[in-house]
Amino acid sequence: MSIKIAVPKATAEHERRCAASPETVKKLVAAGCEVVIETAAGEGASFTDNMFKNAGAKIAATAKEACAVANVITCVRAPTADELGFIPKGALLIGMLAPYANAQLVGDMANAGINAFSMELIPRITRAQAMDVLSSQANLAGYKAVLDAAGHFTRAFPMMMTAAGTIPPARVFVMGVGVAGLQAIATAKRLGAIVSATDVRPATKEQVISLGGTFVAIEDEEFKQAETAGGYAKQMSPEYMAKQQKLVEEHIAKQDIVITTALIPGRPAPKLVTAKMVESMKPGSVIVDLAVETGGNCELSEPGKAVKKHGVTLVGHANMPSRLATDASALYSKNILNLLNLLIKDKTLSINWDDEIVKGVALTRDGTVVHPLFAKKEAAA
Ligand code: NAI
Repeated sequence: MSIKIAVPKATAEHERRCAASPETVKKLVAAGCEVVIETAAGEGASFTDNMFKNAGAKIAATAKEACAVANVITCVRAPTADELGFIPKGALLIGMLAPYANAQLVGDMANAGINAFSMELIPRITRAQAMDVLSSQANLAGYKAVLDAAGHFTRAFPMMMTAAGTIPPARVFVMGVGVAGLQAIATAKRLGAIVSATDVRPATKEQVISLGGTFVAIEDEEFKQAETAGGYAKQMSPEYMAKQQKLVEEHIAKQDIVITTALIPGRPAPKLVTAKMVESMKPGSVIVDLAVETGGNCELSEPGKAVKKHGVTLVGHANMPSRLATDASALYSKNILNLLNLLIKDKTLSINWDDEIVKGVALTRDGTVVHPLFAKKEAAA
């Protein structure tokens, strides 16, 4: 069966990204796929219908029309119940489906006979790096977080020696040194700030230093064991968190900008910046909380808003990658193209369900929840 790919327009709030780019459409068409894009699907990312047409896609008037004859649907976020209704039985749905937050949807997709692949579950193995959406999107979020901080800050980042006097460099503290944190450090350094950073995984110390930052952390026995086999952070003990808090308290009072990016997969974000710490900062300081959508790293940040409390601006934009929608869409679409390349053989869809990458991303197959993490939840429910 030939491959017909539909790309509906993203409808979630704050979502400007698109699950295809003119570049990926061109490559998919060259690989023998038919691609149908819902009109204006690329609008938020500055990809026009004409750009998609020139790349070889057809344009459909509605999502329903685009999906009607598709056997592959690529999307940005999880579909709504209505959108699920447009997806033909047996089709492959690829998107950032947020299964941890959407247990009901996982069951509904299975019941609808849709084979759903969730891009956030791409295993972190070398072969899958080019499909890793958490990295491609977090990298842009880390960069944009620093620009947002600079936008709200009423001082300059670099040291400037002028005839009228010397401006001191800004002090930037990055909390959580994963993909977003590393890019935030690099961006703040490029802008001329004095940068420090903290994390609970020992491997990050060398990375911070190599980017020209200083490392601030409680380096005890628990810290030495804080990284999981998958490279993620473990939930730290209350004792460690208390020690970390004391150290951070002293450090934060001297900072101008704090960028928080700390996450623990499948759990609420750790609370790292207390109200007392915010109060201790100088007026005009800025905190950008990239973890705001999973509960926030800062006690006072508010999702989707920039608010001022105790003289400090707390930036809690929802969906940071979407604020750089063109680049975020280009990279996300490339991640999907790389996954599709694994699934397409001789112009047809040929899924090897035993492949480690497929096993990692497949949530549902032929009416059943197949992912071990979610099949158990489904059985328990
Ligand atoms: P993440 O988004 O899950 O978390 C961000 C950072 O927060 C992590 O560095 C984590 O250690 C830190 N964190 C958690 N609790 C904290 C606390 N209490 N205090 C301070 N920091 C805390 O992490 P991300 O960006 O997804 O990276 C996780 C790992 O995956 C890294 O080792 C990264 O190098 C690795 N990775 C591997 C890839 C591959 O092999 N394909 C691709 C991308 C990343």
